[in-house]
Amino acid sequence: MFMLLLLSSFLNQASLSSIDPITFSFPSFNPQSCSNGDLICMGSVTAGDHYLNLTPESAQETNTSVSSLPINKVGRVVYPHRVLAWPAIISTTFTVRISPFPNSTGSGEGIAFVIAQDSNPSPNDSYGSYIGLLDRSTQGGVVHQLAVELDTFANEFDPDDNHIGIDTTSIINPVAAKSLNSTGINLKSGRDIKVKIDYDGWKKILHIYVAYSGNPLMSFLNQSIMMSDTVPSSVYVGFTASTGTASETHQIFDWSFTSMPLPDYSLKHKLDRGDEIKIMVIIVIPIIVGLFVLVAWALVPFVCRAIGSKNERNRKNEDIESRSRSAANVPKMFTYKQLSKATHNFSKDNLLGTGGFGSVYKGIISHPPSTIAVKKISATSKQGEKEYLAEICTIGCLRHKNIVQLQGWSHEGEHLLLVYEYMPNSSLDHFIGKIFLDWTTRYKILTGLASALLYLHEECANPVVHRDVKPNNVMLDSDYNAHLGDFGLARLLQNDASVTTMLAGTPGYLAPEVGYSGRATPASDVYSFGMVVLEVVCGRRSKGMMEENSLVDYVWGLHGKGTLLQCVDRMLQGRFEEEQVKRTLIVGLACLHPDSSSRPRIRRVVQIFMNPNEPLMELPGCRPSAIYVSLQSSAASTTTTDFGSTAVSALCRSAPLPDETVIQYGM
Ligand SMILES: *[C@@H]1O[C@H](CO)[C@@H](O)[C@H](O)[C@H]1NC(C)=O
Ligand SMILES: *[C@@H]1O[C@H](CO)[C@@H](O)[C@H](O)[C@H]1NC(C)=O
Ligand SMILES: *[C@@H]1O[C@H](CO)[C@@H](O)[C@H](O)[C@H]1NC(C)=O
Ligand SMILES: *[C@@H]1O[C@H](CO)[C@@H](O)[C@H](O)[C@H]1NC(C)=O
Ligand SMILES: *[C@@H]1O[C@H](CO)[C@@H](O)[C@H](O)[C@H]1NC(C)=O
Repeated sequence: MFMLLLLSSFLNQASLSSIDPITFSFPSFNPQSCSNGDLICMGSVTAGDHYLNLTPESAQETNTSVSSLPINKVGRVVYPHRVLAWPAIISTTFTVRISPFPNSTGSGEGIAFVIAQDSNPSPNDSYGSYIGLLDRSTQGGVVHQLAVELDTFANEFDPDDNHIGIDTTSIINPVAAKSLNSTGINLKSGRDIKVKIDYDGWKKILHIYVAYSGNPLMSFLNQSIMMSDTVPSSVYVGFTASTGTASETHQIFDWSFTSMPLPDYSLKHKLDRGDEIKIMVIIVIPIIVGLFVLVAWALVPFVCRAIGSKNERNRKNEDIESRSRSAANVPKMFTYKQLSKATHNFSKDNLLGTGGFGSVYKGIISHPPSTIAVKKISATSKQGEKEYLAEICTIGCLRHKNIVQLQGWSHEGEHLLLVYEYMPNSSLDHFIGKIFLDWTTRYKILTGLASALLYLHEECANPVVHRDVKPNNVMLDSDYNAHLGDFGLARLLQNDASVTTMLAGTPGYLAPEVGYSGRATPASDVYSFGMVVLEVVCGRRSKGMMEENSLVDYVWGLHGKGTLLQCVDRMLQGRFEEEQVKRTLIVGLACLHPDSSSRPRIRRVVQIFMNPNEPLMELPGCRPSAIYVSLQSSAASTTTTDFGSTAVSALCRSAPLPDETVIQYGM
């Protein structure tokens, strides 16, 4: 029985781990990286101080003559464990430096990221233009691999000596090759170059991004690739580099890799049909298990000892794995059953709320024990689902203390579920005008929300526009810290024509220019943020376009009269820092400028919130209005922005609404 339990728990484990994402990250390397089992280093690879040399470094050659430069070298390094190549979403980022030797007459040949069938060294005779990928005598067909090469030598079949190519079975006939000239990047500059390679397992497209380190990544090449026709499902990943008669140094400074499994429908389908498999399961397995139990029983003393030491080893491995996971904690796939169980079959008692994209349920999972929020997505077409899942990788990789962390997802048939961390204090809209929050807390929430937007707009690897900033999307943790949620969804589901009008932002928080251009920008997020600022300070919701304008007009009017503090939520009973509230309101109004180019950037907002001595922006005495566009465009000769902001203050709207009128919007 003991063995049976062990076996079943082992099987359980195996099936669970098979849907976990694989992720690892080398923020830098060290002299032990090759010797301590972190990597398999082959050929000319050596570990330097904080980098890997794939081909020998010039420092090692300083006092040798040009004729004995390290020519015809091949180096290959791979991660020592297998990873999933398909069906999966893959993302890898690394920094590479290629340095020509000071007095070398030429430079070559190149370095490649490789998805390889095995962890063997590069083929014989793969130096020079073969970049450690293929044996020049046998050429292709033998090796199953996918390589993205950074090529610094112009062979007759290459576009030039500064290009990126994609190779599978042939170097001479690459899948794609494109010169880097248009990007301004020179591979041989000796500067650090950052490369990001994503494979979208849904659309079967390989995306390559490149930039000098420290600059924003540029999309460089998209190539349709059928991963399942190219490499086995389980692969090794790493780098190869080579020199030929020309030489140079190839170094890797950091490397991270993630592979997120996708459900394999073809496989599932086969299993459903395979009656013979069922027969196998029903008849053969019990026999094997029976034999196994008999043998095991006889061997109990030995087996126990072996298991003891194995468990210890496993624990060690898990330790290492969990550490690397928490570092890059990517969303993982759940089964529908797991989430259904966690939420008591999506019972009404567990319902936390219903929003534009679906209903959210509270759930409890036991491994590891934690409380989660499960969002059940509604109103998605087939296309929407696919795109949505592809986006998960992007969303899931965003990480900031003021952003709701996506923990996982599930996608089975019609069911599309998202798993988030659970926020005990629900969302900001539950509080505005209803439940008391002191001023310090309100200020903390607004500062957190601004930081989240700054991260999304400027600080994360792939900047995004949220598109739907509103109190319902600002979740509050147990300490009332703001966590912005639901980003990515708006953009994604917007591609689906059937939901465009319904979900493209929320009326009342939508910047005026989005209304007619349909284009959301960081500035339109800033506008929505301004609206949230007014609501939080005044304790009033703005529902619907007309009322929103009234609230903005009203506060702007008070500003004009110099009685700004009159709008402050009466629930605060005057217990707040006047100067701070005033500054907050002025920032809010500035964000609500109808001219998008006159709004502050979110970075400026964060600076003002963080520092009481930071000078404030200029604000016109009354609300500038978008109605005067045509008058302005002839008058304002400077730029071609939609609305000039120079003379706008003179052209104000009708008098602001009196205090009593506004109360009807309060709630
Ligand atoms: C050449 O390198 C060796 C060590 O590798 C060193 O002892 C020697 O001084 C060097 N010669 C010159 C001329 O720099
Ligand atoms: C490389 O060239 C520089 C000047 O061009 C020279 O001073 C130096 O000695 C050369 N180094 C070698 C190793 O030949
Ligand atoms: C590669 O070269 C080594 C050493 O020269 C040799 O033992 C091996 O058989 C060669 N492999 C192939 C596939 O030719
Ligand atoms: C890129 O620029 C280099 C140097 O100016 C030139 O030799 C090469 O032909 C260019 N490549 C292409 C594809 O135009
Ligand atoms: C690659 O595709 C993405 C959209 O998937 C697009 O934004 C990007 O501009 C494309 N890049 C190139 C170089 O075509």
